Amino acid sequence: MRFTPVIEPSCSPVSLELAQELLNGYGSPLYVYDGDRLRHTIQHITQAIPYGQTQFRFASVTNGNVSLLRIFRAAGWGLHANTPGDIYLGLQAGFEPQQIVYSGSNLNREEMEQVLTWGVVTLNLDSLSQLQLLCERYQALSPHIKPRELHLGLRLNQPSLTGESRIGVRPQDFGDAVAIAQAAQLKLRGLHFYRGTGTNATQAFTQVIDAVLAIAQQLPDWDYLDFGGGFGYPYRHQGAAFDWDEFGRSLTARLEQLDKPIQLVIEPGRAAIAGCAHLLTQVVSSKWQGNKQIIGVDTTVGNLSVPSVHGGYREIVPVVSRSMASPPSASIHPTDICGNTTYSRDYLGRNCQLPVLNLGDVLSIQDVGAYGYAMSSHFLHRPRPAEILVEQGQHHLIRRREDYSVLLNNQVFT
Ligand SMILES: Cc1ncc(COP(=O)(O)O)c(C=O)c1O
Repeated sequence: MRFTPVIEPSCSPVSLELAQELLNGYGSPLYVYDGDRLRHTIQHITQAIPYGQTQFRFASVTNGNVSLLRIFRAAGWGLHANTPGDIYLGLQAGFEPQQIVYSGSNLNREEMEQVLTWGVVTLNLDSLSQLQLLCERYQALSPHIKPRELHLGLRLNQPSLTGESRIGVRPQDFGDAVAIAQAAQLKLRGLHFYRGTGTNATQAFTQVIDAVLAIAQQLPDWDYLDFGGGFGYPYRHQGAAFDWDEFGRSLTARLEQLDKPIQLVIEPGRAAIAGCAHLLTQVVSSKWQGNKQIIGVDTTVGNLSVPSVHGGYREIVPVVSRSMASPPSASIHPTDICGNTTYSRDYLGRNCQLPVLNLGDVLSIQDVGAYGYAMSSHFLHRPRPAEILVEQGQHHLIRRREDYSVLLNNQVFT
């Protein structure tokens, strides 16, 4: 395990001067994306895998903002879709259906038909019954929209490799899967491997490559490997970081030894985008309980659910003036950063080590580009923040702040 982050954690710090300009212009709290860093990260991951037939597909389950998806598209990446909604957003961002890989779960008949009608041709199925449904809907498509070729794959379920998971098909069922596809004049050409999310131990991926390849070769028409998804990001800035270069070297070496060339699909989510955003928030309340500082901020677990609801860690730092090298107070105190509701889990951070904070101070909650806005909700009935993109010193709005009227959306009352 390496302890030197290959992708430096978190975007460049926002100065107090810039933060105040942004908060004055767009309001608080505010999701701030660093477009330059995003491009840099995309380039880093792309270059780390020298294997010639590699397609990168951004896993937009992590972030569905169309302006950000367009950055991936401009960099030559496609999209990985977990749901039909991911596909819908991807098409809005200008991805060609052929650039979209679907590997979700449990679609109903209409949804399966919709995915095919949109023209998505690479689909990794989660079960024999989803494969059966796909084959039926494919055969029923009218000839003028029916794609001539599908790239059909199976999601792998093998507890020793994928962990205990509800997703995927066991290798002993591959024969039945091949028969289902053949009955519809289709071939099973892909194996999709997903190790689970957020692993920083590079070896957890490199050590299983041979075993995954051996399983893939049990599919007689195998010609592509989708290797996930699941690559970690060093949210704890001094902690272990996924080593893209080591991963890319190992995977490429193994694939180049195969008898026949195959296509490789890599679908990073958090690794590509987590470090490209902060959530800026302002201190609205301060009190002490013994030696603990209790800080109230103007955001909530509804705006950023991961730290509290899912137990994830996000570093929180005070935003300081350009002229100030270190935070305003040298003394550091255990601090809880509390959301602006009384919900018992409304914490953005607990036991953070922070200087004395005052009303109006600006805090940056870091590394919120993945599963941040995407997992926000109207729970607690607080509208969602705005999102802005900063690129080459310029900033612009990429999603408006909500107002209270969203809380009435689709409600029917007289
Ligand atoms: C199939 C698949 N690929 C990729 C991802 C993205 O995962 P991560 O953000 O851990 O890279 C997910 C997340 O749910 C997934 O289900």
